[in-house]
Amino acid sequence: MAFPSGFLWGAATAAYQIEGATAEDGRGPSIWDVFAAVPGAVEGGASGATACDHYRRYREDVDLLSTLGMPTYRFSTAWPRIMPDGRTPNPAGLAFYDRLVDALLDRDITPVLTLYHWDLPQALQERGGWVERDIALWFAEYAGTVHTRLGDRVKHWTTLNEPFCSAFLGYGNGVHAPGVKNPRTALRAAHHHLLAHGQAAQALRAGGATSLSIALNFSPALADDPADHDAVRRFDAVHNRFFLDPVLGRGYPADLRADLAHLDGLEPAIRDGDLDVIAEPLDWIGVNYYAPTRVVSLADPTEPSNCPLPGLRGMSVLPPRAPLTVTGWEQHPASLTDLLVHLSEYTRTPLVVAENGAAFPDVVDEGGRVRDDDRVRYFAEHLRAVHAAIEAGADVRGYLAWSLLDNFEWAWGYGPRFGLVHVDFACQRRIVKDSGWFFAEVAARNAVPAEGHPVTPGRRADR
Ligand code: FCB
Repeated sequence: MAFPSGFLWGAATAAYQIEGATAEDGRGPSIWDVFAAVPGAVEGGASGATACDHYRRYREDVDLLSTLGMPTYRFSTAWPRIMPDGRTPNPAGLAFYDRLVDALLDRDITPVLTLYHWDLPQALQERGGWVERDIALWFAEYAGTVHTRLGDRVKHWTTLNEPFCSAFLGYGNGVHAPGVKNPRTALRAAHHHLLAHGQAAQALRAGGATSLSIALNFSPALADDPADHDAVRRFDAVHNRFFLDPVLGRGYPADLRADLAHLDGLEPAIRDGDLDVIAEPLDWIGVNYYAPTRVVSLADPTEPSNCPLPGLRGMSVLPPRAPLTVTGWEQHPASLTDLLVHLSEYTRTPLVVAENGAAFPDVVDEGGRVRDDDRVRYFAEHLRAVHAAIEAGADVRGYLAWSLLDNFEWAWGYGPRFGLVHVDFACQRRIVKDSGWFFAEVAARNAVPAEGHPVTPGRRADR
């Protein structure tokens, strides 16, 4: 099943999940350093202090990308490395990304740079973080600084990764940094994320950027009974359309505003002109997809949901259905097809799958090989799902696997492994998994084996 010519293949990572070196070369603390130090916040008391030691081993990791024949690499820059106090540039921090970008370009790997993947400078959190409206200005300054330094070599820019997670998990239910548990505050933080996205997008445009995006995480809501359509609507509004609609210039959906009115958190945060700033036109949308959500309506539309998204009422989330991954996420590739077809029509903007992947219980065998057949199958099924969406007319330009490396998986610590490459965190040895070789083969052929055809990791796995 061939993909369109020019389709972009690649792998993705995020700074805090792989870099380590959290105190090196003047880097300031981030909210994740502080959060990870809180007892019980992260599984096993883990932190990103060492992670994959990528800050020192980046050349080896770029070599891995090259070995896998990845034409594209999505990574994020650490704001606290570039601006330790959130506002003053640190030359040594900028120099690291300079070296990384040059190493990528030396190997003909196209960088796709994400400016914010959740590691806010702690100094800015102390000034209110995403709850403070000035964050939009601070983020735009930071975006401008990075673009001025790297914009001559980096063409593709993503402002925020999954503002849903950093606003709702960070400030709503508190499972992510900075660990604030206040749904009303989370709505304010979410609006400021979008405002910051808009101001940064304007700054990047003013600096000449021509390939701008945001990466949003979508979870399509599924109900067995059509009578549960209101549960689907409610979940979709707060999970998906909350972020998508304003970015597309449609403002916040009217039904969402009505659903959230009882919290009085969103409306007070919005000022005149904000929605115009947020609507800065984008060149593509990053679609992060992992799993759908099963939903059912509640008889009482004001009864709080069992799902801790801010203000969600009148619906419940049902347990996911097998097969599950080790993070308990339902494997449902058909939802990815439907999502891409729908988004393509709804946004009229080119799409890139900016994250998709899965954690499974990987084992390194005696011969030093990781035979992760379940992940090979997961990728094969989801790539066929992307292919089906393209066949159905969706404008999908690329697919970036999550993730290049096993890494620090946020509040889950080093438990779930998402990598195409296995990392032994004790000695930092990297081993390309069978899924890594499989994905390399798909990228090289620009095609995925059709269903019923053998899905093999390729010859190189046997070496
Ligand atoms: C996404 C995040 C990414 C990683 C994957 C598994 O929500 O963007 O950093 O944690 O989930």
